[in-house]
Amino acid sequence: MNTITTTALLEQLSWRYATKQFDAARKIPGEIWAAIERALVLTPSSFGLQPWKFVVVSDPAVKKSLVASSWNQSQPADCSHHVVFAARRSLDEVEIDRFLDSIVAARGGARADLAGYRGMMAGFAAKAAKEGWAKEWAIRQVYIALGNFMTSCAVLGVDACPMEGILPDQYDRILGLEGTDFTTVVACAAGYRAADDKYAKLPKVRYAAADVIQHV
Ligand SMILES: Cc1cc2nc3c(=O)[nH]c(=O)nc-3n(C[C@H](O)[C@H](O)[C@H](O)COP(=O)(O)O)c2cc1C
Repeated sequence: MNTITTTALLEQLSWRYATKQFDAARKIPGEIWAAIERALVLTPSSFGLQPWKFVVVSDPAVKKSLVASSWNQSQPADCSHHVVFAARRSLDEVEIDRFLDSIVAARGGARADLAGYRGMMAGFAAKAAKEGWAKEWAIRQVYIALGNFMTSCAVLGVDACPMEGILPDQYDRILGLEGTDFTTVVACAAGYRAADDKYAKLPKVRYAAADVIQHV
């Protein structure tokens, strides 16, 4: 085990902030970005089904074109990597079987041993489809990835700005997600803060622990 100290964790979580102005000249080094992408892949999800796609936008022209679809916020253009978090629109047995195949590939064993697990997930998917909340469920999983991404960035000294101030339909069109299994939910710009971003120096605004944490 190679844990970081409690002090280091809390320092990094206090250091991070929703970056408004990125230094457009600074790019995230390849080795650091590779670790952040791996952190995305390692995100846990309900059943392990990973109902998501992470579109990493680093092409300057595409990043710039996303500004107009981001309430004219400048972060997509000026950041180093703009990550678009997309959710699977629906869940079916084809996808469940693909996931079960990946379990066998990773852990070995017989596919037949997973019959019970398959039945449980198929029942879940059928209920989600019938009641119309499969996409909502996938969106909840996507937000776990967003949190994991932001914390990973912070721990590695990379700035980020989570962004719900975007137009998902326009993102889907620009990124070619229309008509695919995935649709845009939220984005997160990553890079390095501009020296003059005044938001970096503002005190954190958080309710007291006693207000939000209940011990029983
Ligand atoms: C899901 C989500 C969406 C957000 N969308 C935006 C956004 O579109 N633009 C922006 O500047 N900040 C956005 N924020 C940043 C929040 O306003 C910010 O995280 C919050 O005020 C706490 O401040 P801090 O992150 O600087 O500690 C978003 C945050 C989250 C978690």
